[in-house]
Amino acid sequence: MRRAFALACLVCAPTVFAAEDGRTLAPLTPAAQATLRDEMLGNLRALNELITLVADGKLAEAAVVADTELGFGAMGRNRSLPMDARPGPQMPQAMHRMGIDGHQAASRFAEAAKAGDQALALRRLGELTTTCVACHHAWRTR
Ligand code: HEC
Repeated sequence: MRRAFALACLVCAPTVFAAEDGRTLAPLTPAAQATLRDEMLGNLRALNELITLVADGKLAEAAVVADTELGFGAMGRNRSLPMDARPGPQMPQAMHRMGIDGHQAASRFAEAAKAGDQALALRRLGELTTTCVACHHAWRTR
């Protein structure tokens, strides 16, 4: 009897864990997931660079990095890839919208940095990381 109960719990465990993860699954192809992961590592590197540049008061450089690596200048980079490997078109609309929000936040940061306003740039850097957090808490790919 006890063994049957233990077995039942083992079987139900994965379901329990899945229920605890409140994020919505975005069904991307393995190729698109690989593209996305690559892009994400680039996002993290760019963010790391921005923090150092802002701290050093190198705002003009920070604006260039944000524009080219994270802002609207970074959009559409996967257009030459086969459809199967492009994450954007496979994303649910709400998730895609969050991606655009991220590009927009980066461009707004770049504007403040270009203007030489360190305090505003720092505030907008926080708004940029908020878009990373928002998407990661709402969506998963696995
Ligand atoms: C539109 C949603 C979205 C936004 C916005 C977003 N991410 Fe992600 N990120 C994801 C998803 C989905 C994954 C998981 C990809 C996978 O493994 O299939 C991920 C994975 C990652 C990873 C892990 C990569 C790995 O090695 O597995 C890092 C690091 C990361 N994101 C950083 C960032 C940073 C930094 C930002 C903001 C500048 C950001 N992300 C914005 C959706 C997003």
